[in-house]
Amino acid sequence: MNHLTFQYKHVANFLSEEEILLMQEEIDTCHSLLVEKAGKGNQFLGWMDLPSKTDESLLQSIEADAKSLRERSEIIVVVGIGGSCLGARAIIEALVSPFSTFENSLGKPSILWAGNSLSQDYHADLLNLLDKKEYSIIAISKSGTTMEPAIAFRLLKNHIEKKYGVEEAANRIITITDGSRGALKSLSEKHGYKTYCIPNDIGGRYSVLTPVGLLPVAAAGFDIRQLITGAHQMQKICTGTSSILDNPAACYAAIRNSLYRMGSQIEILVNYEPRLHYCTEWWKQLFGESDGKENEGIFPAGADFTSDLHSLGQYIQEGQRILFETVIHIQKPKRGLSIPFNEANIDGLNYISGKTLHEVNDMAALATTLAHIEGEVPNLDIVLPILDEHALGELIYFFEFACGLSGYLQGTNPFDQPGVEVYKNNMFALLRKPGFENDTEAIKGLIAGE
Ligand code: PA5
Repeated sequence: MNHLTFQYKHVANFLSEEEILLMQEEIDTCHSLLVEKAGKGNQFLGWMDLPSKTDESLLQSIEADAKSLRERSEIIVVVGIGGSCLGARAIIEALVSPFSTFENSLGKPSILWAGNSLSQDYHADLLNLLDKKEYSIIAISKSGTTMEPAIAFRLLKNHIEKKYGVEEAANRIITITDGSRGALKSLSEKHGYKTYCIPNDIGGRYSVLTPVGLLPVAAAGFDIRQLITGAHQMQKICTGTSSILDNPAACYAAIRNSLYRMGSQIEILVNYEPRLHYCTEWWKQLFGESDGKENEGIFPAGADFTSDLHSLGQYIQEGQRILFETVIHIQKPKRGLSIPFNEANIDGLNYISGKTLHEVNDMAALATTLAHIEGEVPNLDIVLPILDEHALGELIYFFEFACGLSGYLQGTNPFDQPGVEVYKNNMFALLRKPGFENDTEAIKGLIAGE
């Protein structure tokens, strides 16, 4: 079986192999901190051994619940935000046909998402659709108190109980939350929902290989065992050696931080496959919440090429020289499609007739990389043999491990996210949540001025 590879040939104009290898000593130190669980945030390193420790009984239980939900649903609504949504969405949207929502049926449900915004219209439209569909709910929140999913779950619980009655509704709801605390845990106990626990030592953005990701992925009909096997494969490589030349995550962490120290403040994760859009969203959260601290950190941005070459392409080619790109390539598409020959050739495309669309996409990628290198944008490449569960498992673990190493290279704690509380406290104060009424001077001023 082919595996994920990380390549740095397109960085050669900016960083020599000797310069990359100068990072080895620092990488060794950070690698030890991570694998020996001796660094900052070491109480949140449960994700590191997850692939090797995933229990057969947990997998069987998830597969059985997924099957049961699928049989009774045309739609499964996954409620969650941030780390309680993006990982599952990244995997499912990478694997599912973009047109599957037009073909859903009992036994072959579509996965839809709720509680990842406060949009009134989105949630009202969703409830309208659910009036007409057989459905069930997977509600995910580690804290059990996050505003967006809590509101969505209240709306959906209300809807599903009216539609099926309280008893049947309880059979159609599965929750994933903390083992002992939080409102979702209390609701689950009160109503007897089947519940999976999120381990205490795993933070939201590193939780995709727990039931948080596994149950929605299984419910979408995909092979969670292959996902875990792929992640386990990468776990062995990443934890087994700190050598920049043998550990792709160490190599990626070393290069992205070298580039950062040379002034590249923004990393753009690029794909040439629209199905990877949510992989980028997951990656943005992983690196954004892990790196961005103490006025430091690489800003993680995303681009879907070739589409975004027609929008962001100009800036990348000629804007501020503070960018580098990490490009995900898929070697082999799952479906065949060639460009047909046309006698009249009015569109002038006969010069590529007989080529597959994938071959043209590959040439677009190479042409773009060469142009961007010329425009002084270093490029890194991640190559996946094919877009399947195994490859996605490898990719997830690769990024998680590189992210941990990167945080330690920057001297920060890659496993906390203190900054995200600030807006929440303001919002609670503005909404008059008991205990938050006058939280900051700015909010006091606003409330006083009403
Ligand atoms: O990474 C994180 O910790 C966050 O993005 C959380 O996953 C997100 O805020 C959702 O939190 P919760 O699962 O507690 O509802």
